[in-house]
Amino acid sequence: MASCIIISNWYIFLFSVFYINLLCCTCTSKISQGEILRDGDMLISPKRKFLLGFFSPNVSNNQRFVGIWYVDGPKNSFVWVANRDKPIFDKNGVFTIEKNGNLVVKNGRGDLMWTNNVTAMNNNCTAHLSDYGNLMMFNGNNKELWQSFQHPTDTFLLDMRFYLDEVLRSWTSESDPSPGRYSLGVNTRGSPQIVILDGEKRRWRSGYWDGRIFTGVTDMKPEYLHGFKLYNEGDKLYFTYTVADSSDLVRFHISPTGYELEQRWDKDNENWSIIQSHPSGDCDLYNLCGNFAKCDVTYLKKCICLVGFVPKDLGQWNARNWSEGCVRRKELECRGNNSVLKSGSGKRDGFFEMEKIKLPDFADTAYLQNIDECRSMCLENCSCTAYAFVSGINCMMWSGDLVDMQQFQEGGNTLYVRLANSEFAGSNRTVKIVVIPVMVAGAFLVCMVVFLLCKYKAKTRVSNRINQMETSEPTRSGEFSMDTSGAGDLSIEGHQGSGSELIFFSFSGVAAATDNFSNENKLGQGGFGPVYKGKLLCRNCSEETFKKVRTRCGGIQE
Ligand SMILES: *[C@@H]1O[C@H](CO)[C@@H](O)[C@H](O)[C@H]1NC(C)=O
Ligand SMILES: *[C@@H]1O[C@H](CO)[C@@H](O)[C@H](O)[C@H]1NC(C)=O
Ligand SMILES: *[C@@H]1O[C@H](CO)[C@@H](O)[C@H](O)[C@H]1NC(C)=O
Ligand SMILES: *[C@@H]1O[C@H](CO)[C@@H](O)[C@H](O)[C@H]1NC(C)=O
Repeated sequence: MASCIIISNWYIFLFSVFYINLLCCTCTSKISQGEILRDGDMLISPKRKFLLGFFSPNVSNNQRFVGIWYVDGPKNSFVWVANRDKPIFDKNGVFTIEKNGNLVVKNGRGDLMWTNNVTAMNNNCTAHLSDYGNLMMFNGNNKELWQSFQHPTDTFLLDMRFYLDEVLRSWTSESDPSPGRYSLGVNTRGSPQIVILDGEKRRWRSGYWDGRIFTGVTDMKPEYLHGFKLYNEGDKLYFTYTVADSSDLVRFHISPTGYELEQRWDKDNENWSIIQSHPSGDCDLYNLCGNFAKCDVTYLKKCICLVGFVPKDLGQWNARNWSEGCVRRKELECRGNNSVLKSGSGKRDGFFEMEKIKLPDFADTAYLQNIDECRSMCLENCSCTAYAFVSGINCMMWSGDLVDMQQFQEGGNTLYVRLANSEFAGSNRTVKIVVIPVMVAGAFLVCMVVFLLCKYKAKTRVSNRINQMETSEPTRSGEFSMDTSGAGDLSIEGHQGSGSELIFFSFSGVAAATDNFSNENKLGQGGFGPVYKGKLLCRNCSEETFKKVRTRCGGIQE
């Protein structure tokens, strides 16, 4: 009798082990050709980092998408979405590898919502979800046919290869994964740089990659062991990004509002903390100041024409509409595509040196021995308007308009801008322009000082009077103000600073917006969180069974 009870206990024990193992068939990281993943089933990566399954980003509508997200940490951050522009409106969707070898998402009626277009007939294909969040498809001979990392949605993950022809496209909104208006990709003209587009228009660029950093991102510290690295694989180039602590969850993505965000998951506060965000401030917005001008965050007027240039439309410029930019004050000796350098009569153009500049867009590069060769190559070519010699890139030259420049306080590069010879020879005239008003003002001051001394015989009052006069000097002309940014000028400008028509997206604004989002996330857990927690393993088990199954699955996979 006693032994019978023992035997039946053993039977129950064996049965439960068998039962748990059966459940763990759904704990797989792999789907084979012909197998079907239904809404509610999931793939889980071997070390339980990522899940693939059906989800709804918005609890209030029943749109279903197939995507990849994190097992632990951020609950509704979807790193990849398959049918992003074709949602399924019920829970009858399927994800499968068809006989023709295509990985597909279909709705209950069998309509195609998404396919990876890999046609590998009768090849015993499988698709695996990796611990990096990559869905990889292989044929029966283990040949890789396709991977989601090479078809990203809006997110770039650690250890992902970002090939230079790839594009991230933002979601339409935080709850709608369909392709939004912003995209992020790499432009390789000159040297690779990251560019955010708003539709077809450039919104932000990182500046040129110099082998260590993107030169237009001044808060980007060169990290030799970690950070961005550029590799080549045959004739294809790709970037990778690594961090010192590989257990950190770090992602880059292009937000629905057009920001490139680098974020790290903050385990303690359960939200994404922002490491960097671009564009950061309005000087970072593409070509804010127009052509042949530079944006300077330390200068209250923000936009300054380059030396040798004046506002094209002075009225608009003074009203802080910089769209027309600046134009050359004196024509060059040598200009245009086909013009020939005049010999004899004209004096050769020169170059004005500008330091700590975000170099203009649309550079061409040449590999030359040194900066002198770079200078002469630019000088000899009448369409060359500027050059720079950058360590890690070599000789860079620009033809035509100089576009999207910033004045940095630290970092940036030295740019040499082509100017007419008379801009240099005519320095006497510049001196006169400056000296005469200064002399007049000086004489006036002396008279006032004498007058006041006589009248009040009080030194303190005299100095007050002088201070007052200095701050009430008339506004300087555009030509003059581009060379200086005197304190008197700035204090006047301080009262006029509200006239900007451009919306200023501040860094704190982005952070606030992201916080709001994470609060929303928390609210959303009630409906959404448990759904992907409850369906990971099985549908009708008690919490206790779940725990056992989780442990068991971990044991099997590790
Ligand atoms: C698959 O091919 C079709 C037709 O050529 C195309 O419209 C679709 O965008 C492709 N899908 C993917 C994911 O490349
Ligand atoms: C697919 O697998 C089956 C069974 O393992 C095998 O007979 C067949 O040759 C395989 N087909 C290919 C194309 O590898
Ligand atoms: C800015 O100036 C340009 C011409 O200089 C004009 O066409 C445009 O309408 C102005 N923009 C605004 C917002 O006033
Ligand atoms: C001058 O520069 C332009 C633009 O970079 C280029 O297309 C052209 O070939 C150059 N001409 C010569 C003679 O080098």
